[in-house]
Amino acid sequence: MAGLEEHYSAHDIEARILAALRGAGLNPEQRLSPEKLGALDHFHTGGLRASRELAELAQIRVKHRVLDIGAGLAGPARMLASMLGCSVDCVEMSSDYCAGAQLLNRLTGLDDRIKVHKGSALELPFSDDSFDVVWMQNVGMNIPDKRRLYSEIYRVLKPGGRFAFQEMAAGETLPSYFPLPWATTPSDHFLVSIEDMGALLEETGFITDLLEDTSEAHLGGATTNATPAAAGQLGLAVFVDNLAQKATNARRSLEEGQVRLVRGIFRVE
Ligand SMILES: C[S@@+](CC[C@H](N)C(=O)[O-])C[C@H]1O[C@@H](n2cnc3c(N)ncnc32)[C@H](O)[C@@H]1O
Repeated sequence: MAGLEEHYSAHDIEARILAALRGAGLNPEQRLSPEKLGALDHFHTGGLRASRELAELAQIRVKHRVLDIGAGLAGPARMLASMLGCSVDCVEMSSDYCAGAQLLNRLTGLDDRIKVHKGSALELPFSDDSFDVVWMQNVGMNIPDKRRLYSEIYRVLKPGGRFAFQEMAAGETLPSYFPLPWATTPSDHFLVSIEDMGALLEETGFITDLLEDTSEAHLGGATTNATPAAAGQLGLAVFVDNLAQKATNARRSLEEGQVRLVRGIFRVE
């Protein structure tokens, strides 16, 4: 996916984040509000707006323990911890993003409620029945072994727990515009159709509460954090190369039905 192949060192990503914050007129010496970082740290289609909507659908409460898989810079985790008061564990396979997430947790004063673990979605470093909610945004499209991904999520959820996610799904034809934000070439592209995704989740043991194609709503919406930011504004370009082209390709792929945007809430009985 975009960002992984660039291999920024932790020092680089921290320096880039600090420079971007200062460039946007924020003072990292003072406590930052998570809402002000939304254009930088919600690294998925629809940005902060999509995260807020998913949080409402997932009905997360203060008492819940949440796991954010493929947490990136942990913007969604900070939104959940600050807005709802819950505790969040993040699993992220890139050390660079882990370092960036820890930096931003510290700068927002949320490091007591959010733990960052370097690890893989396919081997979650938690015992069975640990979480009330598993949260995942724009990560599944980088993981070919969806059966294993879903069974790991099922394993760590408590009975009655919920899996809340959004991601891209396969459309009617194969994507033809590359690079995409999640795939530089066709060989990095691991999408399944919405129907296959739902069937696989149910085969794993999940019960469907919601499985929704939000492509049209997204296309009809306003600009998002994939829209390259103007100078002095925060945006994903701090750590995504070639953002304008990737964002244009993703939009064309959605408009032409080559990919679909999906979100879901699935439950463990
Ligand atoms: C598009 S970013 C989304 C970040 C975050 N979920 C958000 O929405 O702001 C995808 C993230 O998933 C992580 N990732 C991809 N495959 C993973 C895996 N198998 N295990 C853990 N993290 C993974 C990447 O390193 C990247 O940070």
